[in-house]
Amino acid sequence: MRLPELVLRFRDRMVARPDFRRWAGGFWATRAMSRQRAASLFDLAAGFVYSQILSACVQLDLFAILAEGPQKLDALAGRLNLSPRAAEQLLEAAAALGLAQHRQGGYGLGPLGGPMVGNVAIAEMVRHHAMLYADMTDPLAMLRGEGGGGALGRFWGYADGGRRPGLGAEDTAPYSALMAASQPLVAAGILDAYDLSKHKVLMDVGGGAGAFLQSAGERHPALGLQLFDLPPVMALARARLGAAGMAQRTSFHGGDFHADPLPGGADVISLVRVVHDHDDDRAQALLGRAHAALPPGGCLLLGEPMAGTVGAEAMGAAYFNFYLHAMGSGRARSPAVLMRMLRQAGFGRSRLLRTATPLQTQLIQATS
Ligand SMILES: C[S@@+](CC[C@H](N)C(=O)[O-])C[C@H]1O[C@@H](n2cnc3c(N)ncnc32)[C@H](O)[C@@H]1O
Repeated sequence: MRLPELVLRFRDRMVARPDFRRWAGGFWATRAMSRQRAASLFDLAAGFVYSQILSACVQLDLFAILAEGPQKLDALAGRLNLSPRAAEQLLEAAAALGLAQHRQGGYGLGPLGGPMVGNVAIAEMVRHHAMLYADMTDPLAMLRGEGGGGALGRFWGYADGGRRPGLGAEDTAPYSALMAASQPLVAAGILDAYDLSKHKVLMDVGGGAGAFLQSAGERHPALGLQLFDLPPVMALARARLGAAGMAQRTSFHGGDFHADPLPGGADVISLVRVVHDHDDDRAQALLGRAHAALPPGGCLLLGEPMAGTVGAEAMGAAYFNFYLHAMGSGRARSPAVLMRMLRQAGFGRSRLLRTATPLQTQLIQATS
């Protein structure tokens, strides 16, 4: 609950005064809150250092090494190809961040290091963040569009307002691989939240190399499959779904969803991590195309990280919005905004479904 504006102004004036902050830091009733705020502010100021420490751990494969069991510093230094002093510095930092832990006179996995073991999705995202980090070196230049950056825009070949002329398979392969790495978790969240068994044909629009379609097809063996993405992505999708033995039940449609109508034939369409990539006019037009491609009573599944996710507000407003700004288009939208856009596109009813990890994916189901 927000405090009334007058109270907030009084608080702002008091907290801005060094003598008040000193007093609040010493007074028994405000001491804990004051320390906690100071620590939160310090973490904001130091966050990039923590991220780079995580990046070093990922690049050195530290979590796989510690998964073998606790090890002494000298042994770890040798395996990490670092001097004992540098290894100690990294491991102490990792321990303080919960990534490693002091164990049996050496170091083992910490509570946040355990979930990193074999977690290709997070590891690839951490590696990928080198580009975002480069683009945000001068955050004001990025916000004012005064040049610099551009690494993410080049990586996502379809960004910067439209398709790059001459976009080829070699341009789309790295981003399709990055998306496919994180897709199993996203797919499980969506497929657990919405039961596709009553549907006949699913078309995944912007489906990349077909990882979501593969998960849906494995869970529902009778479901017909359609994939729509840019033409250069089709070869990757054919290879992936072919290797999974699903090429026969899939129809592949290469096209531009900003310009081409979507093919008919599906009674359910999914847009997974697609809408947030696009500015409002293009996103609205895409929802309109999805509506036009569905039969009356057809179903749209819109799954992506959304703004205003309770307990993860910074994920949408800070992380995704800056990521998408650096990329060149799109924004994180709240469920309410997306539902309004769905209504404008012609969908009659829409509802937010519960997913296991809303931080990663929220899901809206709409009926045409
Ligand atoms: C962020 S990726 C998401 C991929 C996949 N749905 C997933 O969640 O892993 C966005 C996808 O939209 C596709 N895409 C972008 N612009 C497109 C366009 N104009 N027409 C068709 N597909 C497009 C990209 O090629 C990419 O596969």
